[in-house]
Amino acid sequence: MESFKLVRPEHLNHFGYLFGGFLLKWVDEISWIAASRDHPGCSFVTVAMDRAEFRRSVRQGTVLRFVAEEAGRGRTSVEYAVRVYADHLDTGSEEPIFATHVWFVCLDAAGMKTPLSPPGGMP
Ligand SMILES: CC(C)(COP(=O)(O)OP(=O)(O)OC[C@H]1O[C@@H](n2cnc3c(N)ncnc32)[C@H](O)[C@@H]1OP(=O)(O)O)[C@@H](O)C(=O)NCCC(=O)NCCS
Repeated sequence: MESFKLVRPEHLNHFGYLFGGFLLKWVDEISWIAASRDHPGCSFVTVAMDRAEFRRSVRQGTVLRFVAEEAGRGRTSVEYAVRVYADHLDTGSEEPIFATHVWFVCLDAAGMKTPLSPPGGMP
C-alpha cells in the first residue's frame, strides 16, 4: 500500500526539522491500515517495531511517500516492511529516508490473540 504525508509546521522539532515521533506514528498507522485492508476481519494491534534509525533530516514542506507491504505471516501475527521516501517536487526525484518492519497481532472480540483471517474472509 502506498500513502503520502505533507510535513507541516506542527510536525517539526525545536531545530526546525521533522520530529521523529511523528514519522514513527505515521509508519505505525499506515502499516496498520495496510495490514487491516489485507486481512479483513482482523482487529490488529502493534506488537513490535524493528530498529528505527533516523539518518536524514526532513524539512517542512516535504512530501513523504510511504510504502507498506506484507513481509511475512505467522499464526496470529503479520509482519509489514515499511519504506519512506522524501519526494523532491521541484525535480520529481525522491530519496529514501527511513525503513523498518512492524508486526501486528490479530485479536478477537474479547481482546485475545486469534489466528489470522483466511484470505478474503472473517476469522
Ligand atoms: C499483542 C499481544 C496480544 C500479544 O500477546 P502475547 O500473549 O504476548 O503473544 P505472543 O507472545 O504469544 O505472540 C503472539 C504473536 O506475536 C508475535 N510476536 C510477539 N512478540 C513479537 C516481537 N517482538 N516481534 C515480532 N513478533 C512478535 C509472536 O511471534 C506471535 O506470532 P504467531 O502467532 O504468528 O507465531 C499482547 O502483547 C498485547 O496486548 N500487547 C499490547 C498491544 C498494544 O496495545 N499495542 C499498541 C501499542 S502500546
